Amino acid sequence: MPNELCIISDLDGTLLGDDDALVRFAEWVESARSRLRLVYATGRMYPSARDIIDQTHLPKPDALICAVGTEIHLGGEDSLFEDWRRQLAEHFDAKKVRDALSEWPDLQLQPSDCQSDLKVSYFLHGADPSRINQVTESLRSDDIQAAAIYSSAKDLDILPAGADKGRAARFLAAYWNIDPACVIACGDSGNDRAFFDQGFRGVVVANAQPELASLRAADVYHARQRFAAGVIEGIQHWSTANDQRE
Ligand code: GLC
Ligand code: MG
Repeated sequence: MPNELCIISDLDGTLLGDDDALVRFAEWVESARSRLRLVYATGRMYPSARDIIDQTHLPKPDALICAVGTEIHLGGEDSLFEDWRRQLAEHFDAKKVRDALSEWPDLQLQPSDCQSDLKVSYFLHGADPSRINQVTESLRSDDIQAAAIYSSAKDLDILPAGADKGRAARFLAAYWNIDPACVIACGDSGNDRAFFDQGFRGVVVANAQPELASLRAADVYHARQRFAAGVIEGIQHWSTANDQRE
């Protein structure tokens, strides 16, 4: 295993889903702690992410990426968070997005505690890619620069263009001066897709949603095991591959 290692993982459906496997993951983190940075990247808002960390066996992370990459929380260092936010907020107006999409009957706003000024989230059931393109096109025709991220055949997040979990993770790795090749990024659904465009080593757990299960790329490993067991398997896979390269 390289000396420097950064694990970035989604929570729901990736590390969360099998408590016994999560305990094994926590034990592994404990044993590797001195040479490891641990980051969670989730669609949850910050309070909800903190709650789930406190209520489960999830080890304490070194940083938290929340709200699908629109927030980066690094204990006590608010400046990084503000830099990232400022960059994203420049061309994004959440009210304009809501107004532009208010006429679409199949788009249902998620509860208010899932919304922020940088994330407008809807429930949209069973949409195919052309439906998501229609949404993006409609925003574009209203002169709104935004990204539409669809996950698990039900969640549609409209974010500032340039915001996603992958870019937030890359920003954080650069801040820590970590080579992307030393980052292992793990996920299960559409909002994790962006991890795999950043030069990281990717891991998709066996219980992944079709949008990730069908992904084929040289730097994405599809684990045979589910949830945290798949994450452990993926870390082992990439650690062995790196050792052989050295
Ligand atoms: C989480 C968030 C939700 C978002 C989904 C997909 O479930 O709570 O707002 O739409 O992740 O990113
Ligand atoms: Mg997930």
